[in-house]
Amino acid sequence: MTPGQSVYGEKRVTVKTKNEEIEYRLWNPYRSKVASTILSGVANLYIGPGTKLLYIGAASGTTVSHCSDIVGPTGIVYGVEISERSGRDLIEMAKTRDNIVPIIEDARHPLRYRMLVGMVDCIFQDCAVPDQARVLAMNAKHFLKPGGKFVFSVKANCVDSTARPEDVFEAQTEELVKEDFYPEENQSLEPFERDHCTIIGSYRIPSNELNSAGTKSKKKKSAPKPKAPVVEESSDDGSSDVSSEDSD
Ligand SMILES: C[S@@+](CC[C@H](N)C(=O)[O-])C[C@H]1O[C@@H](n2cnc3c(N)ncnc32)[C@H](O)[C@@H]1O
Repeated sequence: MTPGQSVYGEKRVTVKTKNEEIEYRLWNPYRSKVASTILSGVANLYIGPGTKLLYIGAASGTTVSHCSDIVGPTGIVYGVEISERSGRDLIEMAKTRDNIVPIIEDARHPLRYRMLVGMVDCIFQDCAVPDQARVLAMNAKHFLKPGGKFVFSVKANCVDSTARPEDVFEAQTEELVKEDFYPEENQSLEPFERDHCTIIGSYRIPSNELNSAGTKSKKKKSAPKPKAPVVEESSDDGSSDVSSEDSD
């Protein structure tokens, strides 16, 4: 979206072909759960060109900026962040990107920002709070279109530091099912993040689609088991081979 500019000190690489020059920004999967979810091998992230995305837990906007590049000029990213300190960076970054709407608010109160947010295709939830499934559900009720998608990042010890991570992932998935979500994929984020997973699926699938799909049950009875990551490379110090200048 903004060639020639780094957002948080990340390196940029320009690829020249016969007819054009394309600039890419390096994206560190050890510092972004969207990046690690992609590299872990999910079948579909549901964030692509033209996507209208509600991003909960936007922080200072580093991952939001990459989502802004992905959805492009025909998409939009509404970034909700509770912290005013992080929110200042988010607002600053959004000044140069027309497709980001920064919202400094508590995502537990979606009515406070309903006048800023339209219906969206997808919600990415990464606010890392114990009641994060409820926060996702509250926002989905207001903003996620029927059949829309959710991408739910779970850090096990933020929900329950005494339980086994697998049990937390299972319990979170059960909560989503109660709230009319249809989990389809459950991806472990190892080796990028320990005891994290990303749950991806659909919301309030219209009944005609449920019938025609044939494979989607009205309610999933149990959580899909986390899939093993497909990534094989990791260096000894736990860092990636991309720029270490970027930060979250
Ligand atoms: C794990 S960090 C997000 C990192 C970010 N997604 C990234 O990849 O750059 C979680 C963020 O959620 C924010 N947060 C926590 N509770 C929130 C709430 N109720 N509403 C909005 N944001 C919240 C925190 O302030 C923090 O910035």
